[in-house]
Amino acid sequence: MKYIGNKSRLIGFIEDCLKDFKVDYKNVKVYDLFSGTGSVSEFFLKHNCKVLSCDNMNYAIAEQYRKLFFRKAPEFNELKKIVGYENLDGILNYLNGLEGEKGYFFENFCEEGKYKRKFFSVSNAKKIDAIRNKIEDWKDILPIEKYNFLVGILMNSADFVSNTAGTYGAYLKIWRSMALKEMKLEKPEFISTGKIELYTCDVIDFLKKQDKADIVYLDPPYNSRQYPANFSVLESIVVNDKQMLNGKTGLRNYENQKSKFAIKKYVKDEFVNLINNIKADYIVMSYSTEGILKSDFIMEILKQKGKTKMYNTSYRRFKTNSWTEKNTNLKEILFICKMKI
Ligand SMILES: C[S@@+](CC[C@H](N)C(=O)[O-])C[C@H]1O[C@@H](n2cnc3c(N)ncnc32)[C@H](O)[C@@H]1O
Repeated sequence: MKYIGNKSRLIGFIEDCLKDFKVDYKNVKVYDLFSGTGSVSEFFLKHNCKVLSCDNMNYAIAEQYRKLFFRKAPEFNELKKIVGYENLDGILNYLNGLEGEKGYFFENFCEEGKYKRKFFSVSNAKKIDAIRNKIEDWKDILPIEKYNFLVGILMNSADFVSNTAGTYGAYLKIWRSMALKEMKLEKPEFISTGKIELYTCDVIDFLKKQDKADIVYLDPPYNSRQYPANFSVLESIVVNDKQMLNGKTGLRNYENQKSKFAIKKYVKDEFVNLINNIKADYIVMSYSTEGILKSDFIMEILKQKGKTKMYNTSYRRFKTNSWTEKNTNLKEILFICKMKI
């Protein structure tokens, strides 16, 4: 999944810093806060950790149900009588074979729909409707984890064939070739180690309900772009509340999902509040030299909690669907703080 701030390319850097600071990161309890696509949770799971992952966007948690929740392909014995299959391949084949329907996603996100938005080809928009409706029909039959897993697979497959340059703030005027391919639900790869719990909520609300962790990893938004505004279409597919959308690009109402970490006048207080709610041996935090919080300020707050070191690496910026070297001064920073007992 293309995602602003995705750390998948920085895992090696994060691991090197953990080793340098002598943090034990294997077989421990980790909170991955602001977890997005779950790339950092994935790293810790591969090291057999118990991970509790938290993000306030439903599509982010659905993505993590897709690729991180199950240790092997789940069986769908609940659907055997309805579909005729219980294994994942059979279920995905069945969903892939459904005939398209003209429903909410057709009306809102393709050019033959009422609002003429070109996020998906007409046939893919109809498929999204048919598959989303079918998964919803199964909601009361399936355990919630399996339901979320199937929703995550649909969301990820739809993202793959979207007619966008990576975010959903706009659709492309000209069709990109991937968007004209037929959407196909694919089986994810499964991680065989570790254990994860997934939480869709605000990170501070999450921390207030948890006890101590070995490592708390933080990856807050660092600029004023609000995630719900940039990934609204994916949120609509996952939440499926069929709400009335706004404007040319069909934006959801996201007032209660706005992040204070992306608002200059709130970010300092919110950061201090976040740090004050952490109980852990180590705080590990990613940020950028371009962020709205200055690194000196972050250092000052973390140092009050314990010995802190700042690492950095030059980084290529995510820009639409390509990586650019343009801003060579851009640095990705990692803070590690060993909290005083
Ligand atoms: C920089 S991205 C995280 C990227 C992630 N580490 C990855 O590798 O994909 C920031 C994430 O923070 C989430 N977020 C922002 N404010 C939040 C809050 N107050 N509580 C929970 N999640 C929040 C956003 O939805 C977004 O997914």
